[in-house]
Amino acid sequence: LAEYQTISWEAGRLRMLDQRLLPAETVYQYYTRPEEIAGAIRDMVIRGAPAIGAAAAFGLALAAERSPAQDRDGLITDLEQAARLLRAARPTAVNLSWALDRVMNKVKSVPADEPDQIRVAVLEEAQAIAAEDVAVNRQIGLNGVPLVPDGARIIHHCNTGSLATVDYGTALGVIRAAYENGKNLHVFVDETRPRLQGARLTSWELKRLNIPHSVVVDGSSGYLMSRVGVDLCIVGADRVASNGDTANKIGTYNLALVAYAHGVPFYVACPTSTIDLSIKSGDEIEIEQRPADEVTFLGEVQLTPDGVSASNPAFDITPARYITAIITERGIAYPPYEESLASLL
Ligand code: MRU
Repeated sequence: LAEYQTISWEAGRLRMLDQRLLPAETVYQYYTRPEEIAGAIRDMVIRGAPAIGAAAAFGLALAAERSPAQDRDGLITDLEQAARLLRAARPTAVNLSWALDRVMNKVKSVPADEPDQIRVAVLEEAQAIAAEDVAVNRQIGLNGVPLVPDGARIIHHCNTGSLATVDYGTALGVIRAAYENGKNLHVFVDETRPRLQGARLTSWELKRLNIPHSVVVDGSSGYLMSRVGVDLCIVGADRVASNGDTANKIGTYNLALVAYAHGVPFYVACPTSTIDLSIKSGDEIEIEQRPADEVTFLGEVQLTPDGVSASNPAFDITPARYITAIITERGIAYPPYEESLASLL
């Protein structure tokens, strides 16, 4: 596992690696209040669907610890308020709601009236979510290995590694598992405008793992597939609908279309907690709109003329017909996804 820790619980505080500062600085931030966790998720101190789910669960543990409630109902009311705050931090990744619902269901099932026992249960459930995430990711990685041919040239979008999860990663976990199983490979790392999760974070992780890679601009997929050769694309997911439509970082849909046009396999790797069977298709997924200055500025440098507006949708929806397979910890789903995804859950 990584020598850095994306998220960890330390004696009543939540410690998170500040991903806004990577790769220049490795700084850990400490949090003691649920509203600070909501802020850290919104500001992307921590990001990536499974990682923000775990952060939200620990946010409830902080809420439980700080709540002065002396009785069960009072504590549950305080936790519900914190859950609303955390849920609103980012709308697209279903793992956030999934983790909050899981902790709240646990709370409601604790037979004890004693609020301290509920406080213990909240923290234990958050720790279970974090521990399971690592095990789940390792299994996703192993399940994906047979799909990676020896010598594979792979396009990867955004960051789906240890930094986007509690550890190990999803799509990057598959790449990592293939490499650890002796496959030669080269990863083309999409830089992933506007926040550069690929250039800043994925390359940081791959460099530490000694996995051969080169950073490419997001628009290079057509060139790479037609002139260089690409064997597969693999990406993560923020929410997968019942029919397989997949929300992921903006630019994923474009990449899938280029892959489809070139007959290159396009894989999604995600835990089953990212699959949302309550919705039929991607049309029902809310796309987060982020501030325009993420597009018009690069750090302190203004890129556009004064007063120019920008739109900044953070995710797009790749229609299921462009997805070759969805790799989960419970196995690989192939089309038709209505059936294959339902049978995994
Ligand atoms: O805006 P981000 O950086 O949170 O977006 C992250 C992604 O789109 C990832 O691909 C997704 O969350 C899966 S991470 C294992």
